Amino acid sequence: MELVFRTIKPADAPVLKEFLELAMEFYGNEREQMMDHYLADWGKRVDIGFIVLLKKEKKPIGAVWFRQFTQDRPGLAFLDEKTPELIAAVSPEYRNQGIGRYLITRLVNQARMEGFQSLSVAVHKDNPVLGLYERLSFQVEREDGSLKVLRLTL
Ligand SMILES: CC(C)(COP(=O)(O)OP(=O)(O)OC[C@H]1O[C@@H](n2cnc3c(N)ncnc32)[C@H](O)[C@@H]1OP(=O)(O)O)[C@@H](O)C(=O)NCCC(=O)NCCS
Repeated sequence: MELVFRTIKPADAPVLKEFLELAMEFYGNEREQMMDHYLADWGKRVDIGFIVLLKKEKKPIGAVWFRQFTQDRPGLAFLDEKTPELIAAVSPEYRNQGIGRYLITRLVNQARMEGFQSLSVAVHKDNPVLGLYERLSFQVEREDGSLKVLRLTL
């Protein structure tokens, strides 16, 4: 399986929507209202993200990106206006092969290079990926109902 990794471009917005739906599969009620918030105007703000595609078929199979929100319109993992929120998803049939870990690590390194001091992510308490974030040194900052909000200090 040959893969291509590249940055997310504004034209990728429809693909991101599919991955956002996957990322939010655990979220429940908050889901619909947050969809637009995590996607609107992709590329117009300080948005950074990476996508992975099957080289031959050019089929996207995973994406990771972050967005910065404001106090008056926070995201689910809002900590402060300087801490972007990370969103990650890999298509179910390609999970558990190291793709997600690679994408998240790549984004973390990029955030560090760009001078950010921390990143956050919201994960449902029953989502097995919680262990992956903890192994990558994310720490639980708060719990909001069924969601855990984690921070990685860069
Ligand atoms: C989170 C996600 C992107 C990880 O992608 P992935 O390609 O499967 O990740 P990897 O194969 O690189 O790593 C999987 C890691 O998580 C663990 N993991 C993944 N699924 C697991 C499961 N069902 N049970 C237990 N551990 C699991 C693996 O042990 C591995 O940890 P390690 O690298 O420390 O050994 C993917 O599971 C996904 O899209 N999930 C749905 C969306 C989501 O929940 N996103 C997180 C909120 S933003």
